[in-house]
Amino acid sequence: MSRLRPVLLACAALAAVALAARQASAMPPPTPQKQKLAPVKALMEEKINPSVTTLSFHLYHSKNGDQLTPEVMDALVQLSETATGLVRNADKYTDDPAFRLYAIQLQTSVQGMIDAYGGQEDTAAISHWFTHVRSTCNSCHTTFRD
Ligand code: HEC
Repeated sequence: MSRLRPVLLACAALAAVALAARQASAMPPPTPQKQKLAPVKALMEEKINPSVTTLSFHLYHSKNGDQLTPEVMDALVQLSETATGLVRNADKYTDDPAFRLYAIQLQTSVQGMIDAYGGQEDTAAISHWFTHVRSTCNSCHTTFRD
């Protein structure tokens, strides 16, 4: 029995190594595709998300949701410029043409908001286009974010 012990210990050690290797392979290093999308993540965090937060706050938590305040103007400009950048640079981020289409949808929806504000339209028109803006976030994320 005692001669078996080292063998059993060796087996246990091997099993532990095999398990560690499996766990390591379950978490692969960033793929080249993920690296290509890294600048997109930065744009999302620094440009897209803050401007959407500003617009949302203004639209739903202030009394004058249809007023084109300087703050709203800045957020619309930032969102619009960033969306245009996503369209222009889509090829650098991925080979999948769907990315550019979603970026164009974002551009179009932001333009809808700009027109609704500029046309002295009611809050409903602005908020309609804002819904479109937000649905493009989800569409693109479903395909390109994990
Ligand atoms: C054209 C595609 C596309 C559109 C449209 C888009 N996103 Fe993204 N977004 C991405 C991708 C791709 C990532 C993930 C990048 C990565 O992690 O490598 C991302 C990541 C993010 C992140 C970072 C979260 C995280 O930690 O992964 C935020 C926040 C975000 N998006 C917000 C938004 C909002 C708000 C909108 C809508 C106004 C939006 N995005 C529209 C493609 C898009």
